[in-house]
Amino acid sequence: MELEAFTQKFQSYSGLVLVFFIAVHLAGVILIGINPDAFEIYASNLHSSVFLPYFEIGLAITFMIHIFLTIKKVLKNRLSGNNAILKTRRNDYLGALASKVQPFTGVILASFLIIHLLQLRFPRPGDNLELTTLKNKLEDFHIFVLYSLASISLFFHLVQGIESGHRSLGILTQSNSLNIRYISRFISIFFGLSYLIITFYLRFK
Ligand code: HEM
Repeated sequence: MELEAFTQKFQSYSGLVLVFFIAVHLAGVILIGINPDAFEIYASNLHSSVFLPYFEIGLAITFMIHIFLTIKKVLKNRLSGNNAILKTRRNDYLGALASKVQPFTGVILASFLIIHLLQLRFPRPGDNLELTTLKNKLEDFHIFVLYSLASISLFFHLVQGIESGHRSLGILTQSNSLNIRYISRFISIFFGLSYLIITFYLRFK
């Protein structure tokens, strides 16, 4: 039981680190729309940073821990026939839907990430070629659909993940649950919609 509580907390903290990364990453790619030249300078500076390899290793480990612990939790819940979350969300249609599609949004995000990294990290485009590479990739309709689906999946994944993360950490109480729900939904819409808008901007502008 002790180990289980620790595992759940660890899963929530790994999710929190990833939300932080999603925010920092968004701040970088938003530059594409505001000032494309500044974006290329930002990308070149980022890639020449001596700290980047350590950051990337930390990020890769966090992604792996998060995916591993999530799969473990889903399998455990399935085996024990646990549907408690769905019951408490009887009148919360968005929450119930987000929790139902959680395994699919996770798989879509993980697949997107593999393709995304193969496009922009392995190998990395040369200096000042980041934006052209992204635009060229998004001309392929399948890639455009994948990026759009990933943005929508990110929205649903965050709706479910942020709330259940608070529950696992023991922060969710009856008095603050609605506030946490509203704030987490605002964050989810903000991130999901922002990535979706950037995808459309890159494809059609
Ligand atoms: C419209 C959506 C997106 C665009 C335009 C975009 C753009 C980029 C660009 C230009 C890079 C290479 C430069 C850099 O490292 O900043 C990159 C790297 C990366 N992106 Fe995205 N991204 C998008 C969505 C996402 C999402 C939703 C995730 C996570 C689920 C993600 C995860 C990553 C990761 C892990 C890297 C590699 C960072 C590194 O180690 O250098 N991206 N992305």
